[in-house]
Amino acid sequence: MSELGVGLIGTGYMGKCHALAFTQVHAVFGDGPVIRLAHLSEVTAELAATRAAEFGFARSGADWRALVTDPEVDVVSVTTPNQFHAEMAIAALEAGKHVWCEKPMATSIDDAVRMRDAVRASGKVAVLGYNYIQSPMVRQIAAILAAGTIGPVNHFRVEMDEDYMADAAAPFGWKSEAASGYGALDDFGVHPVSLIHTLLGRIVRVAGHQSKPYASRPLAAGGSRIVENHDIAAVLCELDTGASGVIALSRSAWGRKGRIALQIFGERGSVVFDQERFNELQLFVADGDPATQGFRTILAAPVHEPYNRFIPSPGHGLGFNDLKVIECHELLRRIAGQPSRTIDFDAGLGIEYAIWAMHESAVTGRWIDVPE
Ligand SMILES: NC(=O)c1ccc[n+]([C@@H]2O[C@H](COP(=O)([O-])OP(=O)(O)OC[C@H]3O[C@@H](n4cnc5c(N)ncnc54)[C@H](O)[C@@H]3O)[C@@H](O)[C@H]2O)c1
Repeated sequence: MSELGVGLIGTGYMGKCHALAFTQVHAVFGDGPVIRLAHLSEVTAELAATRAAEFGFARSGADWRALVTDPEVDVVSVTTPNQFHAEMAIAALEAGKHVWCEKPMATSIDDAVRMRDAVRASGKVAVLGYNYIQSPMVRQIAAILAAGTIGPVNHFRVEMDEDYMADAAAPFGWKSEAASGYGALDDFGVHPVSLIHTLLGRIVRVAGHQSKPYASRPLAAGGSRIVENHDIAAVLCELDTGASGVIALSRSAWGRKGRIALQIFGERGSVVFDQERFNELQLFVADGDPATQGFRTILAAPVHEPYNRFIPSPGHGLGFNDLKVIECHELLRRIAGQPSRTIDFDAGLGIEYAIWAMHESAVTGRWIDVPE
């Protein structure tokens, strides 16, 4: 396919990231189809028209169903709140479009299964917005593990923290509604699980705990509303490899802005990475003179593909939106039938099962096996 028409549903935080990624992907990678920004949809026609003018889309409107059936559209980006993902992604697949859907996949296992089944029935490509697996340094961690540099992995820790809900005065929004999901588990937890499943192995058994720092939050229009899900979670995990680990999640961790701190420990060393400083990683290898052993810092450089597609200078660093450009390129490779580093709806369902088990464990107070 030499041309690909894009439909974008939702133009908030992630919608803009998708629009920028589609705009830049051809220039950055120099291959794949020419991208046509065909149709954009928002909650009102006015907002849609404003965003279409800003982002450069040819058509706009308030009817996302018209977007998914538009013959000018070949791939649909779903960047709306979580509770709309299933309905929109399934409708797009049924209309014969490829889908790039933001995480979490859905707000229930039933919906996630229906999405997976819709992809299988359509023969189209559908991938999820797991941008952190696209980081050049995360790919380098995969290469370090594959080379056996730190030996077989026996345990890990991941902390994902931000502070956008740390303030008790932060207004009630859709992320605090039960309809959007469990809270920190599916808002944040899906990202660490995407990294664990990509780098280390499948989570097979979990013990989870959830809590909320504030029982209610103020409404923008006045008054307050009960918080319906949990901003904090902690989970013990066992992997199919026999390794064990801990995941800690918080949307209320003052001072943390975009922390995904990953520590992987093997028989002969360890790797440490933090998304807040994602242009570097720390590697410890237990060899040589113990007196001079220690972590060394590896800075992102052109040798860490696809960093070289953005800039030729080592140590200058990529940004968050560049991860979305890489993710978009992997989507296009998948559509073209080429090898691709993506989390499709099958792998996405595996993440949803892990998150479901974590919540089930938190509710029942028991260890839970993760369904396959
Ligand atoms: N991959 C990541 O790192 C990442 C980061 C943040 C959010 N997300 C995910 O992206 C999704 C969107 O989150 P966000 O932060 O961009 O939210 P947001 O509130 O900034 O944007 C959502 C947009 O969808 C629009 N919308 C809602 N209903 C619609 C409808 N029926 N038709 C068309 N537009 C509609 C809203 O008006 C809004 O502009 C969520 O699923 C979230 O979990 C992913």
